[in-house]
Parts: sequence; C-alpha cells; structure tokens
Amino acid sequence: MIELSVSRLNKRFGGNHVLKDVSFNVNGAEMIGLIGPNGAGKTTLTNVLDGALKPNSGTVYLNGKRIDQLPSFEVAKSGLGRTFQVTRSFRRMTVLENLYVPALALGKSRIGIEVKEQALEVLGFLTMDHLRNEYARALSGGQQKLLELGRLLMLDPDIIILDEPFAGVHPKLMEVIYEYIRRVNEQGTAIIIISHQMDSIFALCKRLLVLNYGDLIADDTPEAVKNDSVVIEAYLGTTEDRSRTGQQDAAGEAQ
Ligand SMILES: Nc1ncnc2c1ncn2[C@@H]1O[C@H](COP(=O)(O)OP(=O)(O)OP(=O)(O)O)[C@@H](O)[C@H]1O
Ligand SMILES: [Mg+2]
Repeated sequence: MIELSVSRLNKRFGGNHVLKDVSFNVNGAEMIGLIGPNGAGKTTLTNVLDGALKPNSGTVYLNGKRIDQLPSFEVAKSGLGRTFQVTRSFRRMTVLENLYVPALALGKSRIGIEVKEQALEVLGFLTMDHLRNEYARALSGGQQKLLELGRLLMLDPDIIILDEPFAGVHPKLMEVIYEYIRRVNEQGTAIIIISHQMDSIFALCKRLLVLNYGDLIADDTPEAVKNDSVVIEAYLGTTEDRSRTGQQDAAGEAQ
C-alpha cells in the first residue's frame, strides 16, 4: 500500500519561515486537497516533497524509504511526481517526444519499444493521440497541462502532487482535466491537489490539508474544514469575500 509519511518539516528562506513543523501522512490512493492563502507555502511544500528543495529539518518517507535528501529524479524514481504551477514542457519537442523525457531521465539510454508503447497508451488515456506529432508549443494552455500530467503518468507514480492544475485553463478543458484526475486516482494513484478553486477541491477530495503561512492548521474532511472557524478566519472567509465581489480565483488564475 502507498504510504507517504511527512514529519515535522521546516523550511526557511533566510528569515522567512515558510514551513513550520508540517506533519501529515498519506495512506493508500487518497485524493487530498491542499489549500491555503497565496504565500501559505503550498508550492514550497511541493518543492520539498519532490526533492527540488531540501528542508532545514524534518523527514519524508515514501513506502518506508527516506526521500527528503534525494535529488528530484531519484524522488521521481521512488514514486513521487509533481506538476508545476507554471506549466513546463519541452516546447520544441513533439508531444510524443515530451512523453519520452521521463524515461530518459530515469537513465534509459534509448527509447525502446516498451517506452513507445507506454507513451501511446498515455496519449490514448488523455485522448491526445491526434496531437502526437504536434510541437508542444502549439498546444493550448490546457493541453499543455494535460501533457504535463501525461509525463507524470509515464513514471507510473504512486503519488502525484498537482500544483494548480486548473489555473488559467479554459472552463471546458477544466472539466476534462478534472475527469482525468479522478480516473488517475481511481486507478490507484494517490493525489495531492493544490487549488484555489474551492468547488473543484470540495467535489474531488475527501480530505483537506489547510496550510496557513507555514502552519498546517487543519487536516480533516471537507465538511469539517468548511465549518472550522480557524480555517474560515485564515482562508475560506476571504475566498467568499472575493467571490462576492466577483474576484474569486483571480489569484490562482494569474499564475
Ligand atoms: N525560492 C524561494 N526563495 C525565497 N523565498 C521563497 C522561495 N519560494 C517561495 N518563497 C517564499 O515562500 C513563501 C511561500 O511561497 P509559496 O510559493 O510556497 O506559496 P503558495 O502557497 O504556493 O502561494 P500561491 O497560492 O500564491 O501559489 C512566500 O513568502 C514566498 O515569497
Ligand atoms: Mg503556489
């Protein structure tokens, strides 16, 4: 069974204490929402979990193996992958070539039939077969998000962290991405999803983590979190205020 164990993580940037003793566990193919105000530390937590940043203290274990001191490619090999708040794709490669990159990064010296078949399978899953020979730069923002999800799936991960998968995506494609996230989860991958889009988070997740300027202030069901006065004070109250003035998600969309 998939098991992620995050224990007392601290991360500081100079005097800015961005993660303060953050601890939580993921057990099995859960779908967990990670929410909190802009600057709360959500992306930083992702960067620490995927090995892009080293914590100042604390530990991360994935399936019993310590991963907090490993470089990102080793973390990916161990089964944890992530997408980026600002999508990253190899713009001058084709869609298919983009999917080959993770295999190369894992040390394969050439792209064998196995990788090719897996790439085609992933493209089929994402219903992007017809785009296989397009350059990544020709894709829409939403399609690039899908391609990024596809690159993650090539690693056959145990757990993936999606940093704002809906931000800046056309509403129609948002529904498509939403469905893929659900299906990936159903197939046995644990997912942590960061989003300011509360409707999607509440619809997708059975458990929410709330980060507030470095403190994990809640780890509970959406219902409990919705009624938690500390969370309302720190975050949800302000989201509602924003939606009343028609500015909901402006922060998320801008990034
Ligand atoms: N590489 C870095 N160097 C210095 N400070 C950083 C770095 N990355 C993040 N920070 C700081 O850490 C804090 C948390 O930022 P982070 O990007 O993790 O927040 P977030 O919760 O992802 O916000 P958002 O919802 O806007 O994406 C902020 O004060 C930010 O300025
Ligand atoms: Mg962020």
